[in-house]
Amino acid sequence: MNSKNDLNNPAPPEQRKVWGRRQSRPLNVTRAKAMEEIFPQIEIDKATLTQDHALSTIALFGNDNETWMEIGFGSGEHVIGLLNQSPNINMVAAEPFLNGMAAFVKDLPKNHIPRTRVLMDDAIMLASSLQENSINKLYILNPDPWHKKRHYKRRIVSPENLDVFAKILKSGGELIMTSDVPDLADWMLTHAFKHPDFTWQATSQADWSEKPKNWITTRYETKGAKGAKKMCYLLFTRK
Ligand SMILES: C[S@@+](CC[C@H](N)C(=O)[O-])C[C@H]1O[C@@H](n2cnc3c(N)ncnc32)[C@H](O)[C@@H]1O
Repeated sequence: MNSKNDLNNPAPPEQRKVWGRRQSRPLNVTRAKAMEEIFPQIEIDKATLTQDHALSTIALFGNDNETWMEIGFGSGEHVIGLLNQSPNINMVAAEPFLNGMAAFVKDLPKNHIPRTRVLMDDAIMLASSLQENSINKLYILNPDPWHKKRHYKRRIVSPENLDVFAKILKSGGELIMTSDVPDLADWMLTHAFKHPDFTWQATSQADWSEKPKNWITTRYETKGAKGAKKMCYLLFTRK
């Protein structure tokens, strides 16, 4: 990626089909500059995404510290919040939307660069490439709901993808999902609950209806809260 023009016409042939938009308005100068200067330092090489669980976190970060993952991070404020809160973790994250990625790299503090690796494409490409038993926490916050029944197969939380998430999570690791869409929350809860490798952590209503301790609120969640919608916080443990 060398010029602003390239950034605003991103369509490399190896991109996977993603069901949301990849770009909205053109990037402003600051974000385009961040994409040119910062993004290449944290971008995961697509040649390593062989989708056979061969990519180790040591290969990504050069250390064996705890690695947490976030799928569909929007503008990335939650990823940055986790890096700020937990100075010893690595973060691997995927977001196909260029404007979100550009907002993230613009705001990413420089000292977090060595602990951050990102993919600007479908998160499943990344998840199915990561080594089994390598991720300590996986966040999927407010995924796209795909309301119509014929679009349910586009939902990122599906029985097939839960198999992939179960593979990459360490035993005792956590899958953390949120939504303010009752139908989607119900869907995610039902499928994760039924999955043999996950245990729901909740023992009371407060456990899923109230923010967990030290919770970092995402941009989407803030918007939802303004609309007086009710968030569900679904926390599962990998058996
Ligand atoms: C409703 S937004 C939520 C953003 C953020 N998590 C938040 O809570 O503010 C859903 C995000 O998922 C991203 N997304 C959609 N399909 C994806 C995929 N296959 N892999 C990774 N991210 C995806 C979208 O681009 C979008 O940024």
